[in-house]
Amino acid sequence: MSPTRLIWPRRRYGARRDSVAVVTENSLPDGQPAAEIDTTVSHSARVWDYWLGGKDNYAVDREVGDRIAAMLPDIVRHARADRAFLGRAVRYLAAEAGIRQFLDIGTGLPTANNTHEVAQRVAPESRVVYVDDDPLVLVHARALLTSTPEGVTSYIQADLHHPADIIGGAAQTLDFTQPVAITLLGVLWHVTDNDEADSIINQLVDALPSGSYLAIAHPTLEVTGEKMAAAIRYWNEYGTPPGTHRTPAEIARFFDGLELVEPGVVSSTLWRPEPAQIGAAEAIDQFCAVGRKP
Ligand SMILES: C[S@@+](CC[C@H](N)C(=O)[O-])C[C@H]1O[C@@H](n2cnc3c(N)ncnc32)[C@H](O)[C@@H]1O
Repeated sequence: MSPTRLIWPRRRYGARRDSVAVVTENSLPDGQPAAEIDTTVSHSARVWDYWLGGKDNYAVDREVGDRIAAMLPDIVRHARADRAFLGRAVRYLAAEAGIRQFLDIGTGLPTANNTHEVAQRVAPESRVVYVDDDPLVLVHARALLTSTPEGVTSYIQADLHHPADIIGGAAQTLDFTQPVAITLLGVLWHVTDNDEADSIINQLVDALPSGSYLAIAHPTLEVTGEKMAAAIRYWNEYGTPPGTHRTPAEIARFFDGLELVEPGVVSSTLWRPEPAQIGAAEAIDQFCAVGRKP
């Protein structure tokens, strides 16, 4: 089997919702999903890419991104800090926790230090499945499929609101009898209903064996208060999909039944900072945590 594969749900192309297609990287026709890309409304993956300094965004994304940055100047730092947290968390999971399988849901557009690059630098045999529902991410997914020969990377276009589809698709690449780390970085805030968010987390964690991990990064109002609240209100008017903030206690509840890795639920800048950052990093309104399934 090729170490790099693309998977997308056939329902987008006319088949059943629960059916996912696995194809080799080369068999995805160029530009197939482009017709689905809406350049009239700002999208989460593309605005995030803009704040990270990427080029895979449209005028509408830059305009909304600039307006939010005017309300919440910290936002560009948030995006970069979130990616830095991804790097430290995945390195921790691969190097210290011994994880060799990763399910990165809400991947975003490819950038520097994607999950497979961080994991495979530690353990080249790491297997990584990426999941996003934005068709532009699928267009650029080949950049996520640059696996080491010893490992595997796959991509699924799927919706977090349907976790069973995600587990079913990921099971074509990952062995769910062995530990898996699920990362939900900057995506769970797009599930605005608390009961639905709980149900999604429960379904994802239930699919994992003991020794698996869950990592979450999520916006809060702890640091910037009304500025972040206003930015989220603006986003919900002009961006898609809508989002919500949660308190650190609400984020902690997603880890009920899991063992929180030290230092628990904290600003993502303060989660196991690099030695040079210890004592220097300032809190931001993106909180995070990593938990282990006992
Ligand atoms: C703010 S970006 C975060 C990207 C990346 N995880 C990071 O931390 O840098 C949120 C991502 O979640 C994706 N997303 C939003 N809602 C989703 C859903 N229901 N299912 C799958 N992906 C979703 C967006 O397309 C976007 O790529």
